[in-house]
Amino acid sequence: MYRYAAGPFRTATAPVMTAYADLLARLPAEPKTWLITGVAGFIGCNLLETLLRLDQHVVGLDNFATGHRHNLHEIQQAVTPQQWSRFRFIEGDIRVPGDCRTACAGVDYVLHQAALGSVPRSLEDPITTNGANIDGFLNMLVAARDAGVARFVYAASSSTYGDHPALPKVEAVIGKPLSPYAVTKLVNEQYAEVFARAYGFRSIGLRYFNIFGARQDPNGAYAAVVPKWTAAMIRGETVYINGDGETSRDFCYIDNAVQANLLAAATTREDAVDQVYNVAVGERTTLNELFEAIRTLLAPRFPHLEHCRPSYRDFRAGDVRHSLADIGKAQRLLGYAPSHRIREGLAQAMDWYVRALSPR
Ligand SMILES: NC(=O)c1ccc[n+]([C@@H]2O[C@H](COP(=O)([O-])OP(=O)(O)OC[C@H]3O[C@@H](n4cnc5c(N)ncnc54)[C@H](O)[C@@H]3O)[C@@H](O)[C@H]2O)c1
Repeated sequence: MYRYAAGPFRTATAPVMTAYADLLARLPAEPKTWLITGVAGFIGCNLLETLLRLDQHVVGLDNFATGHRHNLHEIQQAVTPQQWSRFRFIEGDIRVPGDCRTACAGVDYVLHQAALGSVPRSLEDPITTNGANIDGFLNMLVAARDAGVARFVYAASSSTYGDHPALPKVEAVIGKPLSPYAVTKLVNEQYAEVFARAYGFRSIGLRYFNIFGARQDPNGAYAAVVPKWTAAMIRGETVYINGDGETSRDFCYIDNAVQANLLAAATTREDAVDQVYNVAVGERTTLNELFEAIRTLLAPRFPHLEHCRPSYRDFRAGDVRHSLADIGKAQRLLGYAPSHRIREGLAQAMDWYVRALSPR
């Protein structure tokens, strides 16, 4: 059954006491030092906001390959000057071992988000994706191991399920990768496993399923579907659906991903570590349904969307047809309890996109 967790910024629903609520209550009194790689990116800057609001010390590493300074400025505006003073930013590259060592010094927990996302990008330029996602990942593992960090949590991906047809996806059953990007994320998991076996280095991989929310970049050739369509609708541009629109995904609001990261970093359960977890909601939405949900949320504010219809074109190479997560493992071992289903998350995200993209 669906349960609502108490989040730091939520007021809408009656909170229940969950592992996450308990952690949020404890953290401010026990501040830790966290390293977020990819801190200027979508997931990284949302992690930063949550941790600073919880009075944590945060080191951030980013080379602005796909992240933005304006994301960091927005967080600075959202927190108090005192909270912001606990943040130290390093402009650096995970492909450079020295940058990783500098960033890991004195850190308790690493939340490794830096990578080049996007299946199409990896098909067009596999070498650059490989450099950030595999060389960079290995540099970070070595630096974190040598610095003696207590926990290394990293962004894995649902793309690791590849061509395996089974639904819902359970962590132990994967198929063959369908893109260079998927290969890199699979190799990350394999390196993490080998580092546990060979060096006793403890990590947790979070297989994100289509995360969306505020500050996810709507621009560029490799934008994700939610921000891309939202921006197109607000701007009155054509929304393209690749395929027949019956392709489905388990869309997951950013607060759920933030929750999974914090729970993974802080867990004291021995059997919860050296594992990978699905991070999703456990609900399937087709692209046609997603189009309609976004259109319905925006239409009251943008009357030109009342009769807006998508334009269909060819399926995209490397995409899996259906994706749906079984989130039971994260629920059992981490106490993960998604706070937002897709429609609640979309409503929150739309408020941000309307503010960020509306003509002034
Ligand atoms: N958003 C999703 O739905 C999703 C799904 C599955 C996995 N992931 C993974 O989650 C992580 C974060 O994704 P995101 O959506 O926030 O993407 P993003 O592109 O917004 O953020 C990635 C960040 O990493 C930085 N980066 C890239 N290469 C770097 C390098 N060599 N050195 C330092 N920094 C570098 C970028 O500048 C950017 O700020 C990535 O590892 C991605 O593969 C995301």
